[in-house]
Amino acid sequence: MLRNSETETATRAERGSALRGATESGATGPLAQGREFVWTDADFSRVQALIYQRAGINLHEGKHAMVYSRLSRRLRETGHTSFHDYLGWLETHDGTEWQEFVNALTTNLTAFFREQHHFEILASHLRAKPAGSPWRVWCSAASTGEEPYSIVMTALETLGANAPFKLVASDIDSRVLATAAQGVYRLEALKGLTPAHLQRFFLRGKGGNSGLVRVKPELVKLIEFISVNLIRDDWPFREPFDVVFCRNVMIYFDAPTQRRVLERIHRVLKPGGMLFVGHAENFSESRDLFTLRGKTVYERR
Ligand SMILES: C[S@@+](CC[C@H](N)C(=O)[O-])C[C@H]1O[C@@H](n2cnc3c(N)ncnc32)[C@H](O)[C@@H]1O
Repeated sequence: MLRNSETETATRAERGSALRGATESGATGPLAQGREFVWTDADFSRVQALIYQRAGINLHEGKHAMVYSRLSRRLRETGHTSFHDYLGWLETHDGTEWQEFVNALTTNLTAFFREQHHFEILASHLRAKPAGSPWRVWCSAASTGEEPYSIVMTALETLGANAPFKLVASDIDSRVLATAAQGVYRLEALKGLTPAHLQRFFLRGKGGNSGLVRVKPELVKLIEFISVNLIRDDWPFREPFDVVFCRNVMIYFDAPTQRRVLERIHRVLKPGGMLFVGHAENFSESRDLFTLRGKTVYERR
């Protein structure tokens, strides 16, 4: 079981709103509490059930303010005047709003070379096979792309430019995946990158694009960006992977969901393949599937 400690979810506004919410015992009237829309415990329970079914995300009670704030935007955009109406409409339609609903409720915090030690371990793992061996890697919660690009930079630095290296980068959130595929970042968001990385792997924007950088095509061409829902049993992979990154996403899942996802990752990893997980994630209860090989790094049995 994982510690559900990743509170990186809430923006400052959401946290402020949560503090205000804490004084509002349960039932939640509208304007009296400065809210634009009526928001009840029943609405929250309905959102909890829907996002759990769709994405496996386990929203706990402390997320009232976050959910209210993020979904209020959806009400405005779809022209609904209450959560009750919006959720009723969502449940009876099979349209694109489901994707927007999921996008609104995912938490996408990430960074280049986040949890640096993983990239050192990845590099030594990549060095372990004879030169020229093919590599297939899956980054399964890719968010806005910083993680998959960090993996590919590590591969190019370790294996050289012409190595047969392929990365699949996926996420459930269509919006972050589009950002990842675009590969454009603000300069100030590049903490974690060395000047040498910047020089070798990024193009600096000029004129109207100054302050932005674009990932070089040599990195982008090694990555296939696709939508994959970790909790669905329809993963589109025919070939097994040598390495899977599944970092800082399972903390949002409950224990049975984590176990099902781990069993599926086990099926798509080669024996001896490596699984990298997030800093708050610990799968010691699944030692029948994976053996701990380092800090939050597992080997498939
Ligand atoms: C906190 S980010 C972690 C990003 C990156 N792995 C890292 O560690 O920096 C979690 C990501 O998991 C994605 N996610 C949440 N539920 C998912 C699911 N059921 N299937 C696939 N991705 C999911 C979210 O959209 C989000 O981009």
